[in-house]
Amino acid sequence: MPSIQQFLRRATTVRGTRAVALGAVAAVVVSLCCVATAGPASAARLTKAPGTATHGTITWSANPITTAKPDPRTVLVQAFEKKYPHIKVKIVSAPTDTTTYRADLTTEIGGGAGPDVYSGTVTWPAEFGEHGFAVDLSKYLPTSYFDTFAGGLVAGATYKGEVLAAPYYTTMGLLYYRKDLLAKDHLSVPKTWAELKADAKLMLSKHQVKYGFVYQSADYEGATCDFMEYLTDAGGKVLNATDTKSLLESNGDAVKALTTMVSWVKTGISPSAESTYKEATSMATFRNGNAAFLRNWPYAYATSQGKGSAVIGKVGVAPLPSYTAAGYPGSSTIGGWDLYVNPHSKNLAADLTFIKFITGSEAQTDLATKWSEIPTISSVQKSPSVKKVNAVLAVVSGTRLVARPAGTPDYPEVSQALYQNISAAVAGTESVKTAIKNANTKINSDLASSGL
Ligand code: GLC
Repeated sequence: MPSIQQFLRRATTVRGTRAVALGAVAAVVVSLCCVATAGPASAARLTKAPGTATHGTITWSANPITTAKPDPRTVLVQAFEKKYPHIKVKIVSAPTDTTTYRADLTTEIGGGAGPDVYSGTVTWPAEFGEHGFAVDLSKYLPTSYFDTFAGGLVAGATYKGEVLAAPYYTTMGLLYYRKDLLAKDHLSVPKTWAELKADAKLMLSKHQVKYGFVYQSADYEGATCDFMEYLTDAGGKVLNATDTKSLLESNGDAVKALTTMVSWVKTGISPSAESTYKEATSMATFRNGNAAFLRNWPYAYATSQGKGSAVIGKVGVAPLPSYTAAGYPGSSTIGGWDLYVNPHSKNLAADLTFIKFITGSEAQTDLATKWSEIPTISSVQKSPSVKKVNAVLAVVSGTRLVARPAGTPDYPEVSQALYQNISAAVAGTESVKTAIKNANTKINSDLASSGL
């Protein structure tokens, strides 16, 4: 099984016809033609560096990592301000829902305003780069800075030769399970979706837990992430190699994937309101002890072990199941967050000082050890003391990573066509076949009319 680094290294050699960079690791699977030529910043391209700022106030728009206290954003900013007492960072709390957050930011930045620095997910570089919503960091930061990151992450933040963001933390879809319940029922961690289904049914029949499985299927980006995992495991793809056509109806993979997502609700394993569930809803359900299994990102481990949780000491984390035992581990959508600089910012020097701090070893160690995130810099990712306390890092080398088709600046439309129809199918307002047909038609018409 390739390690995350091996995956990234291999993937960054893949070329597509469209110049792109998908997000961090995600970038990877598809087209990185621009990345291969651009690479991380070359010293020769450096514009006059603004130096290290010592004064000023900047704003940082960031979505919460977790609802558990203390808020990681505040802890990180306090540590920064301690080191740079004359720079103040005002946190602008962004929505947890990636789709709403992206819409807010694009309106603000498009209108000439917005925060100085913003956290943005790994699927944004193509779209944000295409619209000029982010500063090319390679103009100001040297190669040695970009070399500190794990392989592929900078490539993922690069679009048409510009490094549009600095990798903040990496995520991937994982399975969280109740160790105590599995032990009571003498079960091992499920390796196939069928096993998970059987285990959940058994636990429900014994009234050991309220719900068998919770995941993300609301009408937003998270549903696309979950769907990608079933689709890839079933052998399917969303777009063709040139990002110009939907492959959703080219064979039965998409129907198989969505049928599985819908089946959790149909069989009573998942809540009837599952089609409204986002990360926070599914997390809260699991944390309150009301679900046996949870599909979520790395932060879920620390969040399930934090103060106020009903499942402290009872949670395990593993790669996602597959359709077949031979296919185990299943596919995990690669996600994560980067730090972007708004081109309208008036204090670039302070912005860069802040970004360098958050991507430095102190902040990255905090992210990995306190909030179970996957750090982005190699030194912290490899650190034995970090690995010891981060349960997630122990399982990531066994995962199969899949990127969302974010190489195209039209990714927001592609994803919307997916999540709207996925969510409708899980809600039962559209049949699986109709949902896939509608998504397919919408993606093709959006791609055909985009002119990109
Ligand atoms: C997580 C992932 C991010 C993804 C989002 C979808 O925050 O890290 O990449 O876009 O979930 O809800």
